[in-house]
Amino acid sequence: MQKFIVAALLAQGLGMAQAQAQAQAQAPAPAPAPAPASQAEAPWVADARKVSMSVPPKLLAVLQEEIARGGPEGAILVCRDQAPQLARAASLESGWTVRRVSLRNRNPKAVPDAWERAGLEDFDRRAAAGEPPGTLEVAAVVVVDGKPTQRYLRALPTAALCTQCHGPADKLSPAVVAQLKALYPDDRATGYQVGDIRGAMTLSRAVP
Ligand code: HEC
Repeated sequence: MQKFIVAALLAQGLGMAQAQAQAQAQAPAPAPAPAPASQAEAPWVADARKVSMSVPPKLLAVLQEEIARGGPEGAILVCRDQAPQLARAASLESGWTVRRVSLRNRNPKAVPDAWERAGLEDFDRRAAAGEPPGTLEVAAVVVVDGKPTQRYLRALPTAALCTQCHGPADKLSPAVVAQLKALYPDDRATGYQVGDIRGAMTLSRAVP
């Protein structure tokens, strides 16, 4: 429980201008101006952010190319192979363990652990409160298996392109529905609207 509180506090320190503004509005007493995020932030957080942001554009490029070539139903197989592969490549290159997770996962392995779940639920609340979904992140040092571990979670918002495979069931093409049923019989990752948080990039590494 304590870990999540630390995470939430850290999240506010990470440039959540809105949360700070809110806190100020609730406390009219002259408060010192909050430190800019760049001053409050540990260098590892910037590194994790950079790595987390390097993967989605690569996957997006692959998706766009494959959808143009074979429609969304053709791109599903490519996504299944390429997405984990790109995450693995980023892990090897950066030294972080990089994965994708979701509260409603498609890949049976993309289940969030307790820390990731708390972060994803927090993202949903913050997005509902008006924070831009593309900026949502949380970072914290938490103890995992007795080891202090740096953890970073960054939201992946649903864009229009994503709804071809993650949108409401009645908006998916029959070919996409059939392919998803064949490959992911336990799929929970449909029903998303543009702007919804589809999941997150999650990074972790032992404190060096
Ligand atoms: C062509 C179909 C397709 C499109 C378009 C697509 N996805 Fe996916 N998505 C998939 C498939 C298939 C998986 C399962 C991949 C795997 O096995 O790792 C997946 C998995 C994911 C996951 C991992 C968590 C989970 O549910 O398994 C996230 C996060 C995700 N997609 C986000 C997005 C976002 C954001 C977009 C738009 C930028 C997008 N997807 C566009 C097919 C698609």
